Amino acid sequence: MCELSKSGFAKMNSGITLRSLAAADLPAVARLERLCFSQPWTESALQSELENGCLFWGVVADRTARAGIKSAPAQVTDTCLAGYIGLKIAADEGYMGNLATAPDFRRRGIGSMLVSAVLEYAKKKRLAFVTLEARVSNAPARALYEKKGFTLMGIRPGFYSNPGDDAAIYTWKG
Ligand SMILES: CC(C)(COP(=O)(O)OP(=O)(O)OC[C@H]1O[C@@H](n2cnc3c(N)ncnc32)[C@H](O)[C@@H]1OP(=O)(O)O)[C@@H](O)C(=O)NCCC(=O)NCCS
Repeated sequence: MCELSKSGFAKMNSGITLRSLAAADLPAVARLERLCFSQPWTESALQSELENGCLFWGVVADRTARAGIKSAPAQVTDTCLAGYIGLKIAADEGYMGNLATAPDFRRRGIGSMLVSAVLEYAKKKRLAFVTLEARVSNAPARALYEKKGFTLMGIRPGFYSNPGDDAAIYTWKG
């Protein structure tokens, strides 16, 4: 995993770049939300999150990385947003928000790269823990979090609606 440069960019291989996201990226994030979730965050809700200190990272794919991919996920100028993640900080605690990889880019390590970016940030800032909720039925996400070192702390019954589901609560400690 590479560090973000001062400009917030980190060039990965094969046309894939991890970088922090800013207000100008939020329309693309909102489109990615609509592609991936039954109850997507709107652009204005994402804007409020950003203004309240939420940090966002994204993986953008240039034309090289998109070769052979027919659909065009959320556009970020001449690149497209292949995935994103959000993190809120309260004192020394990290709360991981939505994580999404565009359907055509899944199983290529992008989700893993995004979670690693959050955990590297958490280590650098000496956060006591990073916690998150996932639908109990969301096997891909749960497998990803467990692979990245999160521990299942408990189940919160009836946490989700549309469709209804319990929440699995995961925590990572540095
Ligand atoms: C969950 C999600 C973010 C994974 O993104 P991704 O870019 O495909 O993940 P990666 O390619 O980095 O996969 C990393 C690991 O996660 C696990 N994983 C990912 N997708 C999986 C799947 N469909 N089935 C089982 N395990 C899966 C595997 O352990 C995988 O490692 P491996 O490929 O070496 O087996 C993606 O499926 C997604 O956006 N889903 C819809 C939105 C969502 O559910 N977000 C999470 C909300 S809590």
